[in-house]
Amino acid sequence: MRRPLIVGNWKMNKTASEAAAFIRDLRERVSASPHADVVIAPPFTAIETAYRTLGPSSWINLGAQDVHWEEQGAFTGEVSAPMLRELGCRYVVVGHSERRTHFGERDENIQKKVRAALKHGLSPILCVGESLAEREANRTESVVTDQLKVSLAGLAAQDLATVTIAYEPVWAIGTGRAATTEQAVTVHRSIRLFIETGWDSQTASAIRILYGGSVTPQNIEPLLVSDAIDGALVGGACLNPDSFATIINLAQVQRA
Ligand code: PGA
Repeated sequence: MRRPLIVGNWKMNKTASEAAAFIRDLRERVSASPHADVVIAPPFTAIETAYRTLGPSSWINLGAQDVHWEEQGAFTGEVSAPMLRELGCRYVVVGHSERRTHFGERDENIQKKVRAALKHGLSPILCVGESLAEREANRTESVVTDQLKVSLAGLAAQDLATVTIAYEPVWAIGTGRAATTEQAVTVHRSIRLFIETGWDSQTASAIRILYGGSVTPQNIEPLLVSDAIDGALVGGACLNPDSFATIINLAQVQRA
C-alpha cells in the first residue's frame, strides 16, 4: 500500500515571517501525520525560516518549487540542489505547468532537473498534464506520456522509485474546476501502465501519483477514495492553515 502524500505548493506567496506564522498555526491544528506524508514548498526566500521553525524531525517535510540542474556557477537567479539540501529540503517540484507556460520550461531541461535532484538526494515531484485544447482533441494520454518519456528517460528503476508524479491538468490549475475522480483515475492508470511498460511492475506499483488542480477540502475525499490516486498537490487551498489542515486530516482518515 502506498503512503499518501499531500504537498502544499505555495507558489509566489508568503514572506519568511508569514511562513513561520503559517507553520505555527498549522501545527496547532495538526499535531502529527501518522498515515500520510506532508510537504510544504515555500518560495526560496522562506525555506530557511521554515526549516528553523519546523526544527529537527518534524512531520512536515520541506520542498522547493524548482531547482537548477547544475550544482553551481554562472546561472544568475538560479538555486541548486545542494543549496536546497543544506536547508533541509527533501523534495522538489519539477516541471510545474506555470514554469512551462511562463518561463518556457521544456521537457529536456526538466529531465536534467529530475536527475540533479536525484543525484543530491531530493525526491522530485514531476508535474505533467494536458491543456484544455489537448484534452478536447483527445490527446491527454499522448501528451502526458510524451512529457514522461523525455523527463524520465534513462532513469534506473531504483531512482524512479523515489520520484513522485503529479498529474495536473492545466485547465484545472487555479480555475476552481478540478478534474473528476474518473478523469484523474483514467490518466493515473495510463501513467502507471507507462511506468510498468518502460520499467517493471514493481516500480510501477511503488511510485506515487498525485492529482493536482483546484483541490480543496470539499473535493479531496472522492479523489482519495480511489487507490489510483496517492495524494494531492495543492495550490490555492494550501495557503490557509485551516483548509490545509483539513486536507491533511482527510487524507489521514481515508488511508488509515
Ligand atoms: P491549485 O494549484 O490547487 O491552486 O489549482 C495546484 C498547483 O498548481 O499545483
